[in-house]
Amino acid sequence: MSRLYANIEIHPEQFESFIPHIHTYSTVTSTNDVARDLIHRESVGEGTVVVAERQTQGRGRYDREWASPPGGLYLSIVLRPRLAVERAPLLGMLCAVAAARTIRQISHANAVLKWPNDILLHDRKLGGILSELVLSPEPLGIIGVGLNINTSPHDLPPSLQQTSISLFSVTGCTLPLSEALLVLLKHIDKLLVEVDANNSYAKILSAWRETNATIGRRVVVTGHSVVRGRAVNITTEGWLVVKTDDGSEVTVAEGDVQHLSIVS
Ligand code: BTN
Repeated sequence: MSRLYANIEIHPEQFESFIPHIHTYSTVTSTNDVARDLIHRESVGEGTVVVAERQTQGRGRYDREWASPPGGLYLSIVLRPRLAVERAPLLGMLCAVAAARTIRQISHANAVLKWPNDILLHDRKLGGILSELVLSPEPLGIIGVGLNINTSPHDLPPSLQQTSISLFSVTGCTLPLSEALLVLLKHIDKLLVEVDANNSYAKILSAWRETNATIGRRVVVTGHSVVRGRAVNITTEGWLVVKTDDGSEVTVAEGDVQHLSIVS
């Protein structure tokens, strides 16, 4: 139980696609792991939200450590994959759009996205998304969202201090995390309504394109192989299309993107 999130009030009538059931903790290993346990032990389903004040084993993509000191927003939300299970990664992109909108709404800071779903501010990492899938008893996505809201830069490991950023370090303001959580859940809900109404992620991908800072940039993508060129589009699966220097187009399903400077 967390005191920080104790006052959060959910009004079910304000949600259309899911009703949040919030589980709050002061410390967990990883909110994604707690959500997975709840699915397996208590058969929870869509709308379950696990939020913690800190994580001792927060993880990012490719099992990297996600430093999770107090002051950050660390949550996982359980969502049914809409359409085919293979489309589940698009839930991560949906939550990234919702996270960028949340940052803009609560602070007016111009958060943008880096493919596939990093949240950037001033070209530094403000947040990230970890999408995982559970197949039994039914297919469910566990979407972990980490946002450096009130974190002090000194609380992050020295290796991250040049590449990461927190909202507090930019605005100097401490924001109520419970409000940020509520705003985020409402944005996720609104975007899911679009998916359900159209039986398609097309609007989510449009929203992602409008919010992203990758398309149009020169990039190096490191995944199964290294691809260098200009990012030109994302596909309906959310994969990145890169036009390489020899003029061919390469589609990358997963990997890490580095934005290069204009002249690289
Ligand atoms: C990344 O950028 O690589 C993804 C970072 C995701 C971090 C969040 S914090 C809440 C949830 N629990 C975790 O252990 N990870 C995600």
